[in-house]
Amino acid sequence: MKKNKSAFITGITGQDGSYLAELLLKKNYTVHGLIRRTSVLNIDRIQEIIDKYEKIRKLKIHYIDVTDTSSITNLILKYKPNEFYNLAAMSHVGISFFTGEATLNINSLACYRILESIMKNHKSCKFYQASSSEMFGSSKPPQNEKTEFNPQSPYGVSKVAAFHTTKYFRQAHGIFASNGILFNHESPRRGLNFVTRKITHSLARILIGKEKKIELGDISTKRDWGHSKDYVRGIWMMMQQKKADDFVLSTGINYSIEDFVKKVFRILNLDWKKFVTTNNKAYLRPSEVRNLKGDSSKARKILKWKPKYNLDDLCLDMLKSDLKLYGMTLDEAKKIAKKL
Ligand SMILES: NC(=O)c1ccc[n+]([C@@H]2O[C@H](COP(=O)([O-])OP(=O)(O)OC[C@H]3O[C@@H](n4cnc5c(N)ncnc54)[C@H](OP(=O)(O)O)[C@@H]3O)[C@@H](O)[C@H]2O)c1
Repeated sequence: MKKNKSAFITGITGQDGSYLAELLLKKNYTVHGLIRRTSVLNIDRIQEIIDKYEKIRKLKIHYIDVTDTSSITNLILKYKPNEFYNLAAMSHVGISFFTGEATLNINSLACYRILESIMKNHKSCKFYQASSSEMFGSSKPPQNEKTEFNPQSPYGVSKVAAFHTTKYFRQAHGIFASNGILFNHESPRRGLNFVTRKITHSLARILIGKEKKIELGDISTKRDWGHSKDYVRGIWMMMQQKKADDFVLSTGINYSIEDFVKKVFRILNLDWKKFVTTNNKAYLRPSEVRNLKGDSSKARKILKWKPKYNLDDLCLDMLKSDLKLYGMTLDEAKKIAKKL
């Protein structure tokens, strides 16, 4: 009988890690989640799967910081996973301008150390690296696997280093190591300090009178936004290939942050200009990536991947979830919005 697969996920407490864990558990994997110890337990996004799968030993949580190589090696030796998904990162572009060294340590060096450990200790393990469209930086859209990298932030630089590290271990040492070059993807589980979630979450708070304005930076920059659920499916598909490779995942359509704001406010028939201020200096960056739009034709052809969600679906999903957080249904929110 074929043994069920096992997978390690770093970053399981994050947006993508939590959706990926759910997907793998549904596919009957045994999942090992590597989480860093924090003074306040940060497992909200995975509480449901912990409750369901930990007691039947399909989900195991290990307290390991992704920069702690020897502990990761011990775990690899003990459990010999089939697949290793490296999603842990200092993932906020804006914050990376102030935390460059830590960003490179977590995002780049950890990737190198994990791959070296796989090479020495468990060479048959497949490895996935969470690469990013931020690596393209100022390169002209549409961007695909052949586009030059021109990162514009410490985050982008760190992801380029990890991208090449992954490719190096694939080419020089024959490790199954793939990069997913993912364009922005969001969901109700997106962190509160990312612009999309800030917009939907703050709007819910405006409705209940806890906030008055949403302060944003430059809203003319364009991004290619998908839904995290679609993208983790693509990640898994990359790892089921016979050959490791690099794949862009994107919707192929881009919108400005202003478009995103308009779409969210339109759901409640509100005039966004009454509630949003822009060009706030606190949110302007030393260098900005102006225009990202992905060409994911390679993934669509080889993996047969395509996204199910469009931006309207995504905005609605995120807004409904934030309204729910504050005890409102969409209809109730529309009634409150009429009085604002
Ligand atoms: N979402 C996107 O649009 C996008 C696009 C391209 C690439 N990516 C990359 O895809 C990955 C997943 O993204 P995401 O949106 O899910 O990010 P996220 O929600 O910010 O999650 C990041 C995860 O990394 C963990 N982490 C950070 N530092 C760590 C450390 N030193 N040791 C152990 N764990 C650590 C976090 O743990 P805590 O919960 O303790 O903070 C969290 O679980 C990241 O590598 C990101 O850079 C994301």
